[in-house]
Amino acid sequence: MIVIRTARRTDATGIARVHEATWKEAYNGLLDEAYLAALTERRLTPRWRRSLDHRAEDLDDQIYVAVAGKEVVGFVMVGASRETFAPWDAEISMVYVLKEHRGVGVGRTLMKTAADHCIRRAMFSGGLWVLRDNGPARDFYEALQGEHAGRKADGVGGRVVPLVGYFWRDMATLAERATPRVEIGGI
Ligand SMILES: CC(C)(COP(=O)(O)OP(=O)(O)OC[C@H]1O[C@@H](n2cnc3c(N)ncnc32)[C@H](O)[C@@H]1OP(=O)(O)O)[C@@H](O)C(=O)NCCC(=O)NCCS
Repeated sequence: MIVIRTARRTDATGIARVHEATWKEAYNGLLDEAYLAALTERRLTPRWRRSLDHRAEDLDDQIYVAVAGKEVVGFVMVGASRETFAPWDAEISMVYVLKEHRGVGVGRTLMKTAADHCIRRAMFSGGLWVLRDNGPARDFYEALQGEHAGRKADGVGGRVVPLVGYFWRDMATLAERATPRVEIGGI
């Protein structure tokens, strides 16, 4: 059974492991090779630990993990938008699921969890930026009926890359569209 819950400081290593595996696989050829090679669990763990410490005090910003047994198999990071020009209150800045656990509704449930979080925190619209050339992720957001929200170029890992935006003008709609079709343990 997969359970979704708020991330704890002790999840730093598990999140770092998912971060390394998914970025190296999904962004191969899209981001700078040396930047990806340097993304290792060992280097990422202290960064995530600091981030989790900070998040405990800042309730708008939150990380939820999907856990199978004791293993973190996916996570979502959500918080108040820091872009004054973005047409949304909240940004879902990261959503990643290990390859072996994809296609069974974990990503969908993480998106629902993020949407429910936003509604609780009075952030009623939400969006995200995705690499223009990350076709599978764009298919995922389109399956959840995200609306197109423009394009921009931004620096990621030392390379300027094209990004496209998706947004949900009402997070209640995302919460409804992302309702899991498989049974996944309590949030
Ligand atoms: C994108 C990602 C988070 C989706 O997670 P997942 O657990 O596989 O997604 P789900 O099983 O919950 O799928 C939800 C819906 O999206 C659709 N979907 C998911 N991945 C898809 C893909 N690659 N192509 C087409 N549709 C896809 C599913 O068909 C499903 O719709 P349905 O229930 O109507 O059939 C996961 O594939 C991932 O981590 N990818 C690599 C990293 C990445 O690119 N992350 C996004 C960064 S912006």
